[in-house]
Amino acid sequence: MSYEVKHKKLLKWVDEIAALCTPDKIHWCDGSQEEYDALCNLLVESGTFKKLNQEKRPNSYLALSDPSDVARVEDRTFICSRSKDDAGPTNNWMDPVEMKGILNKLFTGSMKGRTMYVIPFSMGPLGSNIAKIGVEISDSPYVAVNMKIMTRMGKKVTDILGEDGEFVPCLHSVGAPIQPGQKDATWPCNKTKYIVHFPEERSIWSFGSGYGGNALLGKKCLALRIASKIALDEGWLAEHMLILGVESPTGEKTYVSAAFPSACGKTNFAMLIPPAPFQKQGWKVTTIGDDIAWLKPSPDGKVHAINPENGYFGVAPGTNVKTNPNAMASCAKNTIFTNVALTEDGDVWWEGMTDEPPAKLTDWQGNEWTPGCGRPAANPNARFTSPAHQAPSIDPDWENPKGVPISAFIFGGRRKNTVPLVYQSFNWNFGVYLASTQGSETTAAAVGATGNVRRDPFAMLPFCGYNMADYFTHWLNFGHTVPKPPLIFSVNWFLKNEDGKFLWPGYGENMRVLKWVVDRVNDRGGAVESPLGWMPSYEDIEMEGLDISRDQFNKLMTIDINDWKTELLLHEELFIKLYGRLPKEFENMRNLIFATLWRSPKQWQPI
Ligand code: GTP
Ligand code: SPV
Ligand code: MN
Repeated sequence: MSYEVKHKKLLKWVDEIAALCTPDKIHWCDGSQEEYDALCNLLVESGTFKKLNQEKRPNSYLALSDPSDVARVEDRTFICSRSKDDAGPTNNWMDPVEMKGILNKLFTGSMKGRTMYVIPFSMGPLGSNIAKIGVEISDSPYVAVNMKIMTRMGKKVTDILGEDGEFVPCLHSVGAPIQPGQKDATWPCNKTKYIVHFPEERSIWSFGSGYGGNALLGKKCLALRIASKIALDEGWLAEHMLILGVESPTGEKTYVSAAFPSACGKTNFAMLIPPAPFQKQGWKVTTIGDDIAWLKPSPDGKVHAINPENGYFGVAPGTNVKTNPNAMASCAKNTIFTNVALTEDGDVWWEGMTDEPPAKLTDWQGNEWTPGCGRPAANPNARFTSPAHQAPSIDPDWENPKGVPISAFIFGGRRKNTVPLVYQSFNWNFGVYLASTQGSETTAAAVGATGNVRRDPFAMLPFCGYNMADYFTHWLNFGHTVPKPPLIFSVNWFLKNEDGKFLWPGYGENMRVLKWVVDRVNDRGGAVESPLGWMPSYEDIEMEGLDISRDQFNKLMTIDINDWKTELLLHEELFIKLYGRLPKEFENMRNLIFATLWRSPKQWQPI
């Protein structure tokens, strides 16, 4: 061991896992830059990493995964609570004892021929009382270097743990032992995959995948699935939300948290650069986090949020200097790219990065690529891992252990119809209802078909570590225990016309909607009453510099009664699934919305 650890329980666990997985070596990660560089060099030697052009992309690397291991595997993700009902019908469940039996077999000898990395990490600022500590044991050096960027990692964490601090044990193996004389794969993984959570024991076991949320266990597994259960028990919230700050021309600062499903625009919204007219007036947007928020009631009567992460694991395709200059700056150096394409001069490229693709590339599978060859150059779920502080938009308070006070929650999905551009919920209960019933088209962030609308309550469907109906109840209760709960809004950037073109320009232009939200929160935004909630009329949205007519705007804001009747049937479908534990308010709210829609014009618009 390269440093002293006095935590008997941790040392014992590491010994037990070593005995189970039989690695060749054990490496305790100290979290130093030297260690990071050495591990990256090792990954270059083994062929997992390619070092990128040092001038164009300093200290950055490219990893190409196995084509079968490119995204989260939701159907292989389990919540193993003692009772099946505590996991609920939206999670995969298996009896914890039975699951331990399966996992013990799979992990037996699974690290043979490999080094076992012990990775102590903190989700949340080091030493802050809201941070949670985890220790990931992994046989993947790729995981170790990604964890260095995504979390506060290393010796300083075991120092904080001391002799008996609490930690979440997170066990990970790619499930590819190396036999003597066998050559290792550049991206070892196993066809059999299990991403398993034991919420009562607060432990995580992940087998077979080396990719993203399957393998970087601090993120979805700890900071969402396990933390959501802890939050239920302790009266706070662990959410799939970005956190941003809006500074008005008068210096007024408003913080907003927004939940959009995977690959639906959180990173983009969190790093939004306001359009020119707003900049001229002095509006500014700052980033606190782009994926996860931990929210707690604070003595000031407000809900305060922290970002438990230390880096971005951002979607690369579609990101460019126009859509998200902050994200581009964040991954300009010290970044690990996974599954993007390689240019001839040793830089990276992905779909949407430039208008014109380069004449020749090496694609994400390592094959020669030319424009028009019919294959995407980057995998649609290709990602960059970059340090949070590298975003020029980072908020000065992003590491403040007290968090930032949240004034609004925004919920959004990817819907080509039905859900209007923006509306504000009438009150907390209706807000919880709208978030609980939100739907979204599936994306490449999870393995499976993309583009189908599914209910994704609070963008938490794949990330809630307990029964979703209990989660709704927890949200209802939470708002009523906080003296000044945030206002709740719904947005949809993804409406399309008959030709499949986006009706709303999105990206930086989303500032126009964000400003209305901030105006509402600060008691100055105009609004009209719609069947679903409060809506801006054309006059209430700042349109300077944007070519959107009143007609076009009304199209974006239309509530089509027939679409909504179908939508309410889909709400019912979700409710039937969750019926036993569903909050009783929900059925009443659904009926009230239905009755109101019934009396409304077929195409409701905010005139
Ligand atoms: P996860 O990291 O998977 O949780 O996702 P995320 O919500 O952070 O996703 P991200 O911000 O990286 O969104 C990625 C996709 O959404 C890309 O394809 C973007 O081009 C697209 N996108 C983001 N914002 C907008 C927008 O305002 N309008 C449109 N049309 N597309 C957007
Ligand atoms: C998501 O899928 O919501 C992500 C990426 O943020 S991953 O960390 O792979 O889950
Ligand atoms: Mn996410």
